[in-house]
Amino acid sequence: MQKRTQHAMSTANNGNPAAQAGPSPLHATQSGALTGTMMLPGDKSISHRSIMFGGAAIGETVVSGLLEGEDVLATIAAMQALGADIHKDDDGRWHVWGTGVGGFKEPETAIDMGNSGTGVRLLMGLMATSPITATLIGDASLSSRPMGRVTRPLAQFGTAFHAREGDRLPLTMTGANPAQPVTYKLPVASAQVKSAVLLAGLNAPGDTSVIEPIATRDHTERMLKAFGAAISVVETDEGRVITVSGERELEACTINVPADPSSAAFPIVAACLVPGSEVRLPGVLLNPGRIGLITTLLEMGADISIENERDEGGEPVGDIVARHAPLHGVTVPEDRAPSMIDEYPILFVAAALAKGRTVTRGLEELRVKESDRLAVMSEGLRACGVAVEDYQDGLAITGTAGAAVPGGAKIATHLDHRIAMSFLVLGMCAAAPITVDDGAPIRTSFPSFVDDMGALGADIVEGDAIMESEGS
Ligand code: S3P
Repeated sequence: MQKRTQHAMSTANNGNPAAQAGPSPLHATQSGALTGTMMLPGDKSISHRSIMFGGAAIGETVVSGLLEGEDVLATIAAMQALGADIHKDDDGRWHVWGTGVGGFKEPETAIDMGNSGTGVRLLMGLMATSPITATLIGDASLSSRPMGRVTRPLAQFGTAFHAREGDRLPLTMTGANPAQPVTYKLPVASAQVKSAVLLAGLNAPGDTSVIEPIATRDHTERMLKAFGAAISVVETDEGRVITVSGERELEACTINVPADPSSAAFPIVAACLVPGSEVRLPGVLLNPGRIGLITTLLEMGADISIENERDEGGEPVGDIVARHAPLHGVTVPEDRAPSMIDEYPILFVAAALAKGRTVTRGLEELRVKESDRLAVMSEGLRACGVAVEDYQDGLAITGTAGAAVPGGAKIATHLDHRIAMSFLVLGMCAAAPITVDDGAPIRTSFPSFVDDMGALGADIVEGDAIMESEGS
C-alpha cells in the first residue's frame, strides 16, 4: 500500500535536525497535467537573516512568512542558545527579542546547525567579534563542507578557531575582543562569506569592507539597512565594495518573508515539462541575485510570466505563472552562476527533457554544496537514461525533446534536499518511476513539498518503487 507522506514531510522538529528518524525513500511516477496555485514557503536566505539580525538587535523584531524548515529551526535554536528570546504567536508570526550587538551569552552546549551551510557560516560571522567561546556541529553533509572560506577572513578580526582537519566541523571558536576591523576581497563568489565578514564587522571598531568582484545575492546588505546599520554599497572598478561601520546597535524591525524562488524552481520546472500544466506561484522573491533560472528557462523557450510585480520590505516580489512549453538546449553564461547557484540541479532536469544540448560551465562551487551536485546529478541522470557529459566545472546534457526519460532508477541523495526534489520532478517525466533513497532532507527547505506537489496533481509517494516492483 502506498500512502501520501504527510507525516514524513511535517515540520516536526526540536531544533536538532540530526535527531530525525532514518531514511525515508520517496518515489515519483509519470504525471498528468499539473494545475493550480501553490503557496510556497518563505525564502530560506531571508528567514535565516531575519532571525539572526533580530537576535542581535535591540527591541522586538516581528517576522511573518518565516520558513519553518529544519535549517531555519536550527538557526532559531542557535540564537536562543546565544541569549535571544524567540517565540511564535498563535497567528504564525515569530517574535525575536535580541541581545544587542556584542551581547551574546556563551552557549552552554555545542550548537547543532544540522544541514545548513548558510546557518553555520553566517552564525560564525555573527559570533566572531563577541567575547564568547562556542562549538559548532552539524550532520554528515555539513561536517564535510569547507569552513576555511569563513575562518580565514574571520581570523583577521582576531577570532580564534580550532577545527577538524581541512577546516571542517566540529569547530570551536573564541570571538575577538577587542576586534580589528577588516577589508576583505572575496576569492570566491559567495554571499555566505560576504555576509559572515559583514556580520563580524558589526561589533568591530571602525569600518569593515568586503570587495565583491562578482555580485552575489544582497539580502544581508538590504536587511542590515532595514535594521538601521551604517552600511554603504559602492560600485568600483574592482567590483562592489560593501562597508559596515561597527560598534553600533541594530534596531528591531518588521519583516515579511517573501516566497522562496529556490523552492519555486521545482514547481516551475515541473510545469514547464509536464504537458497541459499551468501553475501559479504568488508572492515570489524576484531579487535579481536570485532569478537566473527564470532567465535561463525563458531562453530555453519556457512559457513563464510574472504578474503583479511589487516591492515588499525592500525586496522585489511578484506572482509567477508557469505553463508547459517545449524547451530547447542553451549554453548558460558562466557569469550567471551566482544568481542561480542553487538551481542547477533542477535546471539539469529541465535540460534532460529539452531538445538538443545544454551546456553549463564555471560551476566548481557546486562540488561543495550539501553534496557534490555535479557528481550526484551526473550519476543519477545517467542512471535514469539521460545523456550527460562531465566536466570538472559543469555538465553538458542532451535532452529527449519532450519524450519521457527511461527513469526506473534509485537515486542516492547524499543528504541533499535539492537533489531529492530534482529527481522527484524528473520522475514526473519518466517512463518508469524514480525513487530517491531519502526524502527526509527536503524538510530543511521545503517541508510541504510532497503535499504541495500532490495538490497540483503530481504522484509522489513513500516507498521504493524498485523494491515494490521486484516484490510484485
Ligand atoms: C546563500 C548563499 C549561497 C547559496 C545558499 C544560500 C545565502 O551559498 O548556495 O543556499 O543565503 O547567503 P554560497 O554563498 O556558498 O554561494
